[in-house]
Amino acid sequence: MKRGGQLRSEWVIAVQGKVVPRGIDMINPKIKTGDIELEVHALHILSKAKTTPFSISDEHVLVNEELRLKYRYLDMRRGEITHRLVTRHQLMLAVRIFMDEQGFTEVMTPILAKSTPEGARDYLVPSRTNPGSFFALPQSPQIFKQILMIGGLDRYFQIASCFRDEDLRADRQPEFTQIDMEMSFATEEDLFPIIEALVVQIFKTCKGISLSSPFEKISYRDAVEKYGTDKPDLRFGMPLVRIDDLALQSHFSVFLEQIRGGGIVKGICVKGGGDLSRKKIDEYTALVRRLGAEGLAWFKMEEEGAVSSIGKFFDPPLLKKIAEKMEAVHGDLLFFVAASEKITNQALDHLRRTLAKERHLIHPDLYAWAWITDFPLFQWERETGTYASEHHPFTSPHMEDLPLLDTDPLQVRSSSYDLVLNGYEIGSGSQRIHSSELQEKIFHILKLSDDDIKKRFGFFIEALQYGTPPHLGIALGLDRLVMILTQAEGIRDVIAFPKTQKATDLMLEAPSEVEKKQLKELNIQAYL
Ligand code: AMO
Repeated sequence: MKRGGQLRSEWVIAVQGKVVPRGIDMINPKIKTGDIELEVHALHILSKAKTTPFSISDEHVLVNEELRLKYRYLDMRRGEITHRLVTRHQLMLAVRIFMDEQGFTEVMTPILAKSTPEGARDYLVPSRTNPGSFFALPQSPQIFKQILMIGGLDRYFQIASCFRDEDLRADRQPEFTQIDMEMSFATEEDLFPIIEALVVQIFKTCKGISLSSPFEKISYRDAVEKYGTDKPDLRFGMPLVRIDDLALQSHFSVFLEQIRGGGIVKGICVKGGGDLSRKKIDEYTALVRRLGAEGLAWFKMEEEGAVSSIGKFFDPPLLKKIAEKMEAVHGDLLFFVAASEKITNQALDHLRRTLAKERHLIHPDLYAWAWITDFPLFQWERETGTYASEHHPFTSPHMEDLPLLDTDPLQVRSSSYDLVLNGYEIGSGSQRIHSSELQEKIFHILKLSDDDIKKRFGFFIEALQYGTPPHLGIALGLDRLVMILTQAEGIRDVIAFPKTQKATDLMLEAPSEVEKKQLKELNIQAYL
């Protein structure tokens, strides 16, 4: 990337003249029009332009992102954003054609709605005509699409706007788009092939790539065990291997204390990693420390066996067994983290992905899809001392786990699934609860009072009582798909007018203060 670049005039002109070929020695292969010349007979200025704040003609010039967002229209002229918007358009067109062919009807659902429990804060809109009351912008069309099933639509989809006030990351926006769908009288066996065929079609249309399906299925438990995460990047190997049983046979107090305190020991084998310098190993140690681990143990597999500063705590036959379990050979390097299950998995997941990137283990043209299934129904929220839905509260438990709802809710598996691609969660969905009694029971386990249930979901519980077909669905993150299709660095690059990390629009200068008069009309006093 270059800095600076040439600032060229952006005047809009109309020219009449004659296009003539350039002489052979005048041809400039670096520009699209480099082999022609225009003999101008008349020129009209349609619109003059100020000097632009950054170079338009040279799209490789590095420009500060804030400046690009403030002058989004100029950034678009540089080409890259526009190209991504065209891919986005092609994708939406492909989705609509495909879903129509499969018998799905697109239905637009309200934007002025009521709080939907997807786990983020709501964006609220005050009602002028009902003082003190608020609409919430939908975090997803979840309840609407279930009501459509109760209404007998059977196959719904929508390219839907969703709004979530949550901490932003490179793949998250407060306002984003889902390819949302729901179907009645169906199971995962019906849904998965439809979604697979949909993404196959999208990749064919937008990239000319033929993906192979069906996609791999991995249970949540296996994904976390093997990769430390529920959205594993499967473009490369380097699985996490648990060695608690062997670690217990060592004299290394760090491992022993962690296991005795309820923690675990897991490692990864870096093929050919014997070339890693001490400096690099120190960097990786700092990385796992930032993620809560106390340290990073390592062994280099040399001719005489495993070599390490902590080698003295491991008898040679034990080291041999560890190496065998990790499938390590001469020239490899083994890394180990001992900590709580959560920290160990998080640290090794990050380390695994960092190593893959730095050691160029990822082929740029690979698309590794997988379904992650059987998530737990609940997670435990330590701060509030309550259960929370892992997906959302309308997700059905596994029928064979129903008795556990009363005895051990954390062991209950849900009939839910995520679709992951190259380490990103692209989609998420579930079989829904279609009995009002079970739905109420789940709300009670989530510690919602009868009053809360009535106020927030009374209409929904009632709707479920009028004959609800079994139904299931999924939502795919459209922006994330375009991001991967166009190899964009972040989600902001695939949205025409995105928000910053602080959820602001730099071009509009929004959010902004409003007139006192408007607040008064809305019966709102600004809270400072
Ligand atoms: P979920 O909340 O998992 O499920 O969202 C579905 C998919 O939407 C995308 N996504 C986002 N993309 C960009 N910015 C965000 N802030 C953001 N949040 C989510 C992800 C994610 O996989 N109603 C359920 C779906 C269902 O059960 O049918 C739902 O919204 O790609």
